[in-house]
Amino acid sequence: MSRRLIFILSTFLLALPVAQAQPTYSKEVSRILQEKCQMCHRPNDIAPMPLLTYDDAQLWMDDIKRVVSDKIMPPWKPVPGFGEFRDSYGLSDAERQTLISWVNAGAPMGDPSEIPPATAPTGDWQLGDPDLIVQMTESYTPPRGGDMYRCFVVTNPFDQAMNVRAVDVLPGNRPIVHHVIMYIDEKGASANLSGKDGSPGYTCFGGPGFDIDSINAMLGGWAPGTLPRYLPDGIGVQIPKGARLVMQVHYFPQLKTGEDVTKVGLYFAKAPIEKRLFYIPVVNTRFKIPPGDPQNVVNATFDVPPFADLKIVQIFPHMHLLGKKINVELTPRGRSKQPLIFIDDWDFKYQGFYNYKDQIPVASGSSVRVTCTFDNSANNPRNPNDPLKEVGWGEGTQDEMCLSFFGVTFDFESLLRL
Ligand code: HEC
Repeated sequence: MSRRLIFILSTFLLALPVAQAQPTYSKEVSRILQEKCQMCHRPNDIAPMPLLTYDDAQLWMDDIKRVVSDKIMPPWKPVPGFGEFRDSYGLSDAERQTLISWVNAGAPMGDPSEIPPATAPTGDWQLGDPDLIVQMTESYTPPRGGDMYRCFVVTNPFDQAMNVRAVDVLPGNRPIVHHVIMYIDEKGASANLSGKDGSPGYTCFGGPGFDIDSINAMLGGWAPGTLPRYLPDGIGVQIPKGARLVMQVHYFPQLKTGEDVTKVGLYFAKAPIEKRLFYIPVVNTRFKIPPGDPQNVVNATFDVPPFADLKIVQIFPHMHLLGKKINVELTPRGRSKQPLIFIDDWDFKYQGFYNYKDQIPVASGSSVRVTCTFDNSANNPRNPNDPLKEVGWGEGTQDEMCLSFFGVTFDFESLLRL
C-alpha cells in the first residue's frame, strides 16, 4: 500500500469518531423536540405527556425510539417530495437517526449550558388577541369512549361582510378535541338542525351537515400541530353579510370525557383585500366500494375552466375511515404532471390544512386529479362496518368521501381595481 493511501486511510479513520459524534440532549435532541414534537407534547395539549425537559425525554426514551423508528411519531402525513409545505413537523432521516442513536447511547445529557431557550407556545392565542372570538353558546360533553362530530352554530354579529386573514382555535378541553373546521352557512341551512336531540348543536360528520353548494362555504380549520398563520398579504376569506358560522368539532374522548366550550379566534384584514380565498372542493360522489375489497381506487378530477387562471394557496385532502392513501396531482396545460400532495398512511385523526411554501400557479385548461385508495376489508382495523358492506359517498361515519379542498385565489379578481 502506498504511503499516500495509508495517509488518506488513517485520516479517514481518525475522522470517523468525529463524524459519528454521539448526539446529546443539550445539543441535538432538545432542538429536534422543540421543532418537531413540543407543539403537541406540552402540558394541556393533545399529546398524553409533555416532552419539554431532559427528564421528560429520558423518562420516555424507549417509547421515543419505538415511535420514531416505526414512523408513528410525529404524525406529519405528507410524504416528502410531493409538494413543499410551510411548517412541516416531519422528521428528516438524519433527525430520526439522531434520536435513535441518542437512545441507544443511554440518553446522554451533554453540556447543560448548550440547551436552547424554551420555545413551546405558552399563551392561549399564538397570534395575539383575536379581533373576534366566537364560541359555542353552551358547554357540550361528548359521550366517553366515542369518536364523534358535533356542529355548533355561531351567529355572525356583523352587519357587513368581513374579511378573515387568520383563524385560530382554542379547544375548551384539549385532550378530547381532535380537530375543528369552520364553515360559512350563507343561506341559514343550519338553523333547523340545532338542538333537535336535546343537546347543544347537532351531529355531523365529514362536513357541516348540510349541502355545500358554494366555493365560499369554508372559513378554515385547525388540527393538532397546526400553527395559525396569516394568509398571504392582500388575501382573505370573506364572510358574507348576515351569514352564520358553523363550528364542526371532532371529539375523541377515548379514556375520559368532560365539558367543552371551544373558542375560535378570527383575525380580520385591517386594509381592503385584493383577492378572496375560495375553497374549491374536488370530489367524486358516485363511487361504490365493494365489501371486502382491500384496495379500491377512486378518482376525482377537476378541469380548470377557461379564463379562470388561479393560484393554489393551501390544500385539505379528506377521506373517512376506510381511506389508506390519497394522492393529488396537477397536470398543467401542455406540460407533465406535478405532485401536489401524497399521503400514504391516511389517518382520519390527523388531518390538516397544508400551506404551500410558494403559491402554485394553475392555468385554465389544466386539470387536477385526486386519487383515493380505500381498504374495505375486515383487515382494516378502522373499518366501522361489521358485517362488511358496500360503502359510498355520504356524511355518516360509515360512509366515505374522496375529496380535496383547494384554497385558491383567482388571477382575474382584483377587488382593489375600480
Ligand atoms: C401533531 C401532534 C403531535 C406531534 C407533532 C408529536 N406527537 Fe407524539 N403523540 C401525539 C398524540 C396525540 C399521542 C397519543 C397517541 C395517539 O393518540 O396517537 C402521541 C403519543 C406519543 C408517544 C407515546 C406513544 C405510545 O404508544 O405510548 C410518544 C413516545 C411520542 N408521541 C413521541 C413523539 C415525538 C418524539 C415527537 C417528535 C419527534 C412527537 N411525538 C410529535 C401527538 C403528537
